[in-house]
Amino acid sequence: MANAISRQMFQLDGRVAAVTGAGSGLGRVFARALGLYGAAVICTDIASAGNEETAAIVTGAGGKARTFIVDVADEAAVDALAADIRKRENRVDVLVNNAGISTGKDLLHELPVEKWDRVMAVNLRGVFLCMRALLPFMLAQRRGSIINLSSIAGLVGVDPQIPAVSSNYSAAKAGVIGLTREAAAEYGGHGIRVNAIAPGWHLGTKLGRQPSIKANPEMMKAFVERLRRDTPLARTGEPEELAGLAIYLASDASSFVTGQVIAHDGGWTAW
Ligand SMILES: NC(=O)c1ccc[n+]([C@@H]2O[C@H](COP(=O)([O-])OP(=O)(O)OC[C@H]3O[C@@H](n4cnc5c(N)ncnc54)[C@H](O)[C@@H]3O)[C@@H](O)[C@H]2O)c1
Repeated sequence: MANAISRQMFQLDGRVAAVTGAGSGLGRVFARALGLYGAAVICTDIASAGNEETAAIVTGAGGKARTFIVDVADEAAVDALAADIRKRENRVDVLVNNAGISTGKDLLHELPVEKWDRVMAVNLRGVFLCMRALLPFMLAQRRGSIINLSSIAGLVGVDPQIPAVSSNYSAAKAGVIGLTREAAAEYGGHGIRVNAIAPGWHLGTKLGRQPSIKANPEMMKAFVERLRRDTPLARTGEPEELAGLAIYLASDASSFVTGQVIAHDGGWTAW
């Protein structure tokens, strides 16, 4: 690894980045940021419209992007993504496992098994399947950076008075941390780095919007106020604020960083 200090260390020119859940929210931010720094972005999502829009935003800003529709929980669909990449780019330098869902608030003893299973399938199995399918490209290149989306809910419990997080979500996000650390250990010797981002409250995405709260402006105001009160930086995050961390982890700027979980939470987990 070159030890020169230069602005180039953040550049991703000539690299290929796959982003899951790129059609909305944080995934769109990751695709835009990676595209801006020179990566050719493969935007993937279970839904087409938002995903096409993300790719158009990346190319509209002068970047390179294409799309692929995939349900990350579906083994055959993820394998089809890998086969398509093999035919087209035949390389993957960066993988952002961002696709994720939440089923809102259910106390554990009332949580339907179907909600447990679907959240595990998308938020944990999906990360496993995408890593499993795309790691061979990185192994062949002896280089790669994988960024997995965990959550502060994977690090700490969340007060049940804040009606947004359930045990299925927290368990899956904690699982992502285990997956990240083990993969970092298994593939560090191959030049592949694996890190996790644990975002705090970034409103303005689809996930952050709880229908029951959103429908009631008073409840929404109280919800946001509560989040502000419990955050050292005294506010919620903007999705775009994650761009810098994504560029850092994707690029050579973080060349000696692997197996880490970086909370992006305004200090939520600091007190
Ligand atoms: N927004 C936050 O504050 C926050 C906080 C902590 C963690 N996260 C995590 O960040 C990631 C992105 O969340 P977001 O807030 O942008 O949510 P979002 O709902 O706005 O976006 C998620 C995207 O994933 C896609 N998706 C859902 N299921 C999929 C599947 N099975 N296969 C492929 N794509 C699928 C959706 O179509 C959507 O485009 C998630 O993993 C989420 O758990 C977000």
